[in-house]
Amino acid sequence: MDNYRDFAGRYDLFYDEFGERDPDTVKFFRSLFERKGVRSVLDCACGTGRDLPMFNALGLEVFGSDVSPSMLAQAEKNLAQLDLAIPLKCVDYRELPQSYQRRFDAVVCLSTSLLEMPDETEVLKALKSMREILRERGILVMSQGTTDKQWSEKPRFIPVVNRPDFSRLFVIDYEDRGADYNVVDMFHSGERSEFKVWTAHYHFMLLRDDLERLLKDTGFATIEFYGSYRFAPYDKSTSDILITVAHR
Ligand SMILES: C[S@@+](CC[C@H](N)C(=O)[O-])C[C@H]1O[C@@H](n2cnc3c(N)ncnc32)[C@H](O)[C@@H]1O
Repeated sequence: MDNYRDFAGRYDLFYDEFGERDPDTVKFFRSLFERKGVRSVLDCACGTGRDLPMFNALGLEVFGSDVSPSMLAQAEKNLAQLDLAIPLKCVDYRELPQSYQRRFDAVVCLSTSLLEMPDETEVLKALKSMREILRERGILVMSQGTTDKQWSEKPRFIPVVNRPDFSRLFVIDYEDRGADYNVVDMFHSGERSEFKVWTAHYHFMLLRDDLERLLKDTGFATIEFYGSYRFAPYDKSTSDILITVAHR
């Protein structure tokens, strides 16, 4: 089932322009990848392709995969507009070795994509699959907006976009272990006045300590956690983003 079918066409409204990435994110990946000798990268939950142009601009060999055909169709359109030919494949990130015979210097799984797994057994399958297609000492980079701070404060409303013509608000229904992220879109221009809702269901929360445990169980070594794209150390009580870098 393609969970993103009704959302893929609107997904990119999260940001201003496809292909543009903020300077901190670009600097983070440039610096990290240079230090770790990364020349090839697979974005294994690439969605509409948001980060692929950035990796391409860093001079890397870039590949994208995702399980959602509708997100990949949008990625194809987005990349075509920039005249970028980046190979895309429809692959579940739990089954990467079956689709990629080669190894990568880095695998990335960004923007809370790992939290879509139904339970820890499936997370372990996913991490094992990502590790298997990394070369020795290759790195896995993950990011998520659900942090220890957010999970302890449990804000119900998080505004994410507020433009003259469009607003996007997360309305979050928390459960014991998981949460429903209702993405509420409001179009309010002269041409379009419309209201749409799409829901992402997270079965359970994966926070810093869970990730550390699961990554170690999978055999990853040297796990680093950052709380911003400026390499600030991750702080459970203040960080609004959780970035993980794990070495094979
Ligand atoms: C929130 S989006 C993030 C997309 C992109 N990384 C970004 O930053 O815009 C989550 C993505 O994870 C993908 N995804 C979820 N489960 C997956 C799986 N089992 N295998 C591969 N991709 C998956 C979804 O299809 C979706 O495109």
